[in-house]
Amino acid sequence: MVKELKPKTQDLRPIVILVTGGAGFIGSNFIRYELENDDDVIIINLDKLTYAGNLESLKDIEKKYDTSSLKLKPKTQDLRPNLRYFFVKGDICDRNLVDSLLSGKYWKGGKLKPKTQDLKPNIVINFAAESHVDRSILDAEPFIDTNIKGTQVLLEAARSSWQNLKPKTQDLRPKVFIHISTDEVYGSLGKKGKFTENSPLSPNSPYSASKAAADLICRSYYTAYSLPVIITRSSNNYGPYQFPEKLIPLMIKNALEGKTLPVYGKGMNIRDWLHVQDNCRAIDLVLRKGKPGEIYNIGGENEMENRKVVKLICGILEEKKTGGDSRLTTRDSRLDELIKFIADPRGKAHDFRYALDCSKIKKDLGWKPTISFEEGLRETIDWYLSNQDWVKKVVTGEYQKYYKKIYK
Ligand code: NAD
Ligand code: DAU
Repeated sequence: MVKELKPKTQDLRPIVILVTGGAGFIGSNFIRYELENDDDVIIINLDKLTYAGNLESLKDIEKKYDTSSLKLKPKTQDLRPNLRYFFVKGDICDRNLVDSLLSGKYWKGGKLKPKTQDLKPNIVINFAAESHVDRSILDAEPFIDTNIKGTQVLLEAARSSWQNLKPKTQDLRPKVFIHISTDEVYGSLGKKGKFTENSPLSPNSPYSASKAAADLICRSYYTAYSLPVIITRSSNNYGPYQFPEKLIPLMIKNALEGKTLPVYGKGMNIRDWLHVQDNCRAIDLVLRKGKPGEIYNIGGENEMENRKVVKLICGILEEKKTGGDSRLTTRDSRLDELIKFIADPRGKAHDFRYALDCSKIKKDLGWKPTISFEEGLRETIDWYLSNQDWVKKVVTGEYQKYYKKIYK
């Protein structure tokens, strides 16, 4: 584990991270990664639990680290060093709530009575967002609310909590506000070239436009108020716990159910696939070694056309079926016969290609992706096969309605 934040004096402990959107795909993987890798970390997870946020993704974490699920008397908690995870249901746009969490006041008078300074975050990591491009084209409004307004609320609350400290309440722990952004803010590439952190922003969907707006507000809080803000921009993540509206889990789910595999247009758009574990490791490095005011690109270096990704998924599932894997019950003989090229619901807003130049994070923080796409995809498919119950639990009536609208 990286040592930079491991303080020498007790004053600098613990590292309390306010994770927003921690019940979503990347946030839940990140919470697991941090709690498992650093005993000095305490996580407060603030999540609104939209259709995309599900506490089913954190069941193991709740069992191992959560205080609220255990009816402990105040003193008992001190005997359990592993109680380092707190869930709060709420909206990042709710300024009063965010203020009370950042100041530690939220916990005062509560049942657990933790030492308040122990639950005063010195790190904020903003994963919370409306994250699906197709939904943003159907209705941009929630994207503007959460992705732009919500980010500004968090920045302002961090500013007032971290910069208005009276001398006596000095908190020596390093403060960092990490905003999780995306390669989509740069817009679309042709067949060649890569985006660097200095490439101009040129978003094409309401989703990417709202993320770009938030990035610029983050930049202004660093410039105008010296708030220690760092932005990460990653490429397409994949791995366990991804909601099945995104390409890879949707194709796995549909293939297992013998349903059509809907590929937009001719399936020639290119994405750069990054395993979520590689992204979590990068974000962890950024929080310990990253430089305030900087932006870091995080790419998987695994570019592939969509149609090839879908064929690979079919191939891996076929192999398992032939091998007699009992978790596969589909009767279809050739899964790739389920592939159907459909009219592109994104129209002109469908970016052709994304690719990131990651030399900065490699050089400055010593990061590089370690999981090859084929290895990561096999492991991901395996996870979805073993966790079909999770998929059933996270898809609701809302999902069915949305599915009908997009894939009419
Ligand atoms: P996700 O959709 O799986 O999860 C989003 C989470 O945010 C959910 O738990 C949801 O309940 C929560 N949320 C939404 N609105 C909220 C609000 N107003 N207040 C509090 N919580 C709220 O998203 P993800 O794929 O895990 O992405 C996380 C972040 O990473 C997003 O900011 C996204 O833009 C960015 N990102 C994602 C990818 C990717 O490939 N998934 C790639 C690059 C960047
Ligand atoms: O690049 C980073 C972005 O990756 C993140 O910022 C977004 O939050 C995340 O959702 C993802 O966006 P994409 O639009 O690239 O991912 P998605 O999985 O939705 O689609 C990947 C590609 O597959 C894209 O070219 C559209 C295509 N596609 C998608 C779906 C859901 C299909 O062909 N068929 C489908 O059914």
